[in-house]
Amino acid sequence: MLILGLESSCDETAAAVVECGRAVRSSVVASQHALHEEYAGVVPEIASRAHVEAVLPVIRRALHEAGARLHDVGAIAVGHRPGLVGSLLIGISAAKALAWSLGVPLIGVDHVHAHLYAGLLAGRAPSAARAESPASLPGAPPAPALGLVVSGGHTSLYLVRSAIDLTRLGATIDDALGEAFDKAATILGLPHPGGPNLDRLAASPGADDRAHRFPIARLSPDSLDLSFSGLKTALLYAVRGQPGRGEHGPQGYERTEAELSPERRRDLAASFQRAAIDAVLLKLARALDRFEDLAGAPCASLVTGGGVTANSLLRRELARVAVERRLPLILPPHELCVDNAAMIAGLGYELLRAGRVADLSLAPVPTTAC
Ligand code: KG4
Ligand code: ZN
Repeated sequence: MLILGLESSCDETAAAVVECGRAVRSSVVASQHALHEEYAGVVPEIASRAHVEAVLPVIRRALHEAGARLHDVGAIAVGHRPGLVGSLLIGISAAKALAWSLGVPLIGVDHVHAHLYAGLLAGRAPSAARAESPASLPGAPPAPALGLVVSGGHTSLYLVRSAIDLTRLGATIDDALGEAFDKAATILGLPHPGGPNLDRLAASPGADDRAHRFPIARLSPDSLDLSFSGLKTALLYAVRGQPGRGEHGPQGYERTEAELSPERRRDLAASFQRAAIDAVLLKLARALDRFEDLAGAPCASLVTGGGVTANSLLRRELARVAVERRLPLILPPHELCVDNAAMIAGLGYELLRAGRVADLSLAPVPTTAC
């Protein structure tokens, strides 16, 4: 069965065709990065307008690349939470119109849960690397699993009993990890989107990730929540000086990022990245240590997803943790780490099989409680 997935929760308009929840037949993503670059962040009103313009061409291209017609589609899945309300509304409206006119089921999908499904997909997204039939694909990861989502809007740990049965164990209490990377990149004078640029700079020859000691938020001894705002402020002070401690610049700071030497900028990027990833690894280790008490069974696999799982240091560290803990690791390929609609269509298939379909009252939910 083919499912058409739609994703418009933030600044990417995406559509994908996925067969039986696993084999990606097409995955098209129209990014709005260029539109938001001058604001160093996503402007909601600009994002919604760009979704309106992109949604139909993106759907047409996804169908074309899949070699499918609208009437071949058996259901429409759409990310309906969480996200920017105006952006979500565009994808949801398109999905409702399609489901109603085709007479097929409509499925509302949680975007954050879908990130944990991305690593289970295979097919030809977006390069024609692996064209497999659903029957030849490996099964679901052993359960219960520990899930880690690290994205621009979310940083959460989950107890994953199945793709559609997830309990959140902890989450960031302030910035998401990707948001912290993006803001850190701005503080260092790197262009938007900051995360990948900071990753690249931190990986450049000679970068010393111990050059600067940044704080890691532990919170209470058994907390599985995370916090990145102190780390971000520490970087701001390291770059500009602490306000009130010396000569005053225009905003009370001593220096600007333009005064950083290339070596110091590189070392600060590497040190920030090391501290941010260590903060995630600390909570991951805590969650693994406590997993059996929380789940009533030992952890059987580690499932990860979200834009920051594209980060080179995090990928290496997750692989190391998986080997040390003897756990299978589900880590999406780069193109499926960031926002895409294949993960929405994939998880949509599982929800459909469980009978969890929506009706035309499906509404955007900006925040997530699960
Ligand atoms: O999952 P995603 O596409 O959107 C949300 O659901 O939020 O994640 C986007 C985030 C951005 O903050 C971006 O800077 C970050 O993922 N990101 C990275 C890397 N690639 C993307 N952060 C650090 N290193 C990377 N290589
Ligand atoms: Zn996302």
